[in-house]
Amino acid sequence: MTNRRGEDKVDFARSVERVVIGRETSDGAGVRLTRMLAQDLQRRLDPFLMLDVFGSDDPDDYLAGFPDHPHRGFETITYMIAGRMKHRDSAGHEGLLENGGVQWMIAGRGVIHSETPQQEEGVMEGFQLWLNLAATDKMCAPWYRDFPAAELPRLRTAEGGTVIVIAGESHGVRGAVTRPVTAPLYLDLHLPEGGRFAQPLPADRNAFVHVYRGRLAIAGAAVAAGRMAILANDGDGVVIEAREAARAILVAGRPLNEPIVQHGPFVMNTPQEIRQALSDYRGGRLA
Ligand code: CO
Repeated sequence: MTNRRGEDKVDFARSVERVVIGRETSDGAGVRLTRMLAQDLQRRLDPFLMLDVFGSDDPDDYLAGFPDHPHRGFETITYMIAGRMKHRDSAGHEGLLENGGVQWMIAGRGVIHSETPQQEEGVMEGFQLWLNLAATDKMCAPWYRDFPAAELPRLRTAEGGTVIVIAGESHGVRGAVTRPVTAPLYLDLHLPEGGRFAQPLPADRNAFVHVYRGRLAIAGAAVAAGRMAILANDGDGVVIEAREAARAILVAGRPLNEPIVQHGPFVMNTPQEIRQALSDYRGGRLA
C-alpha cells in the first residue's frame, strides 16, 4: 500500500453487523436484477437509498432496458462492469456508458431519462446506487457526468491488487467525484488471493461491502460473492482480506438523519413534497 502519509492506518477494524442476500426482482421494462439495498435498509444505511446489481449473460434479462422515467430528490451512480448502456435525458444529454465506466447523475429537482442496453449478446453486469440529497439540495439543478474507465483514478495495493476510486479518497488518491454533505466513498476493490486492504473510515459513516467475485474476510468474518456485508459503526476503519481472488465494492457515507419519504423514483422529506413531485411530473413541470 502506498502509505505516504500514514493516514491509512486502522486501529480498530469495523466488524460485520449483518450479511444481506438481496432480493431478485425486475424493474424498468423487465430488467432482471438483484436489489441488495431496499427501503428496509434506508435508515440503517443513510444516506444510501438503493443498490441494484445487474448481472446476466441472457439478453432477455436486460435488453428491454429502462424506458423514459423520472427522478427527483437524490443522486444515481451507475457503474458498468461489463456491457454498454445508452443514456438520454430530458435536457438533451446523451451518453454511452461502457465497460468499467461510471455515470454520476444528480437528479435534483427533476430528470426524465432512459437507460438502454446497447448490445444484443454477451454479458451485462453492473451496479446502480442511489445516494440521497440533503433537504436543502433536493431541488437543485440536475447534473450528470460520464467517466470512462480510463478516467477513473486508481491505486495499487502492495500485493498487486487494484482499487478504483470512484468517489471520496483512498490512500491519498482522490476519486472521480467528491461530494461535501454526504461525503460518499465508493471503491471497487480487485484483490488477489491473500491480498489485504485497509481503509480508515470514521465510525459515524454508514458503510457496506458488496462482494461480486470470490470470497473476502472483513475483520475476520467471511463474506462470499453475491452477499453484502453491513459494517457495524464500531471502529475507525475497514480491514478486508481476500480469502481467494475477489472483487467487491466498498461504499460509505455520512448520514443525513432527515426524514425519508420515497414514492418510486421520487425521494423527498415529506408526503406533501411527494404529491408535488407527482403533480409536477403529470403536469410536465418536472423536467
Ligand atoms: Co433512472
